[in-house]
Amino acid sequence: MLKQLNPTTTLAWKELEIHAHEMQQRHMKDLFAQDPDRFQRFSQTVGDILVDYSKNILTQETLDLLNKLARECGVKEATEKMFTGEKINGTEDRAVLHVALRNRGNDPIMVDGQDVMPEVNEVLERMDAFASRIHSGEHTGYTGKPLTQVVNIGIGGSDLGPVMVTEALRPYWIDGREVYFVSNIDGTHLAEVLKKVDPETTLFLVASKTFTTQETMTNARSARQWFLDQGGSQEDVAKHFVALSTNAAGVTDFGIAEDNMFGFWDWVGGRYSLSSSIGMSIALTIGFDNFAALLDGMHDMDEHFRHTELEQNLPVKMALIGLWYTNFFDAETEVILPYDQYMSRFPAYFQQGNMESNGKSVDRNGDPIEDYNTGPIIWGEPGTNGQHAFYQLIHQGTRIIPGDFIAPAVSHNPLGEHHAILLSNFFAQTEALMNGKSAAQVEAELRKEGKADEEIAKLVPFKVFDGNQPTNSILVKQITPFTLGQLIALYEHKIFVQGVIWNIYSFDQWGVELGKQLAKAILPELKGEKEVSSHDSSTNGLINSYKQWR
Ligand code: F6P
Repeated sequence: MLKQLNPTTTLAWKELEIHAHEMQQRHMKDLFAQDPDRFQRFSQTVGDILVDYSKNILTQETLDLLNKLARECGVKEATEKMFTGEKINGTEDRAVLHVALRNRGNDPIMVDGQDVMPEVNEVLERMDAFASRIHSGEHTGYTGKPLTQVVNIGIGGSDLGPVMVTEALRPYWIDGREVYFVSNIDGTHLAEVLKKVDPETTLFLVASKTFTTQETMTNARSARQWFLDQGGSQEDVAKHFVALSTNAAGVTDFGIAEDNMFGFWDWVGGRYSLSSSIGMSIALTIGFDNFAALLDGMHDMDEHFRHTELEQNLPVKMALIGLWYTNFFDAETEVILPYDQYMSRFPAYFQQGNMESNGKSVDRNGDPIEDYNTGPIIWGEPGTNGQHAFYQLIHQGTRIIPGDFIAPAVSHNPLGEHHAILLSNFFAQTEALMNGKSAAQVEAELRKEGKADEEIAKLVPFKVFDGNQPTNSILVKQITPFTLGQLIALYEHKIFVQGVIWNIYSFDQWGVELGKQLAKAILPELKGEKEVSSHDSSTNGLINSYKQWR
């Protein structure tokens, strides 16, 4: 059981409220002017990852108070409970053990009196052996050709992680391998992928923790039908369809033999499952050794998170800084901005990770949360594209929008000056967001351009940037399987820490159920011509218009 404590009742929260009043009047550029060592003081390197959090509206006192809050809310104790298999997912009565999937030290982790590590290792060994058989050509398709194309059929956590990682690690792809992802129930998604693959050389991975998800099961059935229509037989399905799931009965019902199933466990949340067998598409695309290096990186950050004091603990720090803005500056969103094209899906991945975990309004006592905000809205796109699209609002809009800038120092594609230009934009943007541009600076610039006084007076207000927009800068030596693993675990644990402090259950997702239930009720109503009148007038109107037009 996790502690059940409204964070606003802690001493630290009250002190933070008073402190926030003062800090809301401060400008970061003054904080930098007062302290030449601010970067050294407020940045930290773990392995090949440097996190510079100096461009935040905070002082050492802020951090001390935030750490005090973490202490009062029992962050360290909660962390230990997670790592030791306590059932901290209270509404589903489950342990939360994605950390066991990459527990490379192999120390026993007990759930219900049983060490989970032998099972974890067994699945990893089977994944390794299967990937080798596919790569060596020992496991062939129904006409004897090697299976070089992989189609992962899954959605949410059974899609976004593998999509993000395979894209981020494109430089590590094994030559000749192709991987595709089908998630949307919109038939277009599957149809477009099927145009690109050959039934004789394609392996379908049906990835679903529950093996009941409507989108995935429908896509999987359609893919199987396509395979049969293209010349494969029922027996051939066994060579071309593999299941990644916790639901052995569902897998067998679908017609996939247990031999072709790679399992995981109910203590792995869907959005934390990429290091389970859900990562099969990753292993098949970059090789099992690189997949293992990804797990090593995750484990490295897990160890840092578990064993480092709050003050030096990177995920804790990122969590507390985020919470500082959400709860004491009324920030509504956080933006993630990877300056790396390969990392383009990283914001989408942590959009689910964060919003499905911490988008909650009932606390661990079951009471409505009325006096503080929980998870922020997460969004983002790769830089520099974002600069030419939505940065205007971050620079000159009315909201505070904390941002994470992420970039590798070394590019996998050292093409002329591209990488230096890319990083010059990263550094310039965080500098601009912090400093802004004063009226005096704008005026001096316009005067230099030879503008008349009247025009200067007219233009100045529009060209001023307030600055004081907070950013974390995350500079990674290079995006490798290991450093990507560290980054993923860093963000996962950030979410965990915030959930602990907000007194919510981060590992359930009841909020997705209502829409699913209603869709199931509406589907039969879409059949036939009969007018529908069982809903509100808007829903009836939409359904009936659809029925007329289709
Ligand atoms: O509907 C939300 C959700 O349950 C996510 O939490 C999950 O990642 C996704 O659906 C897919 O679920 P499954 O892996 O069971 O198909």
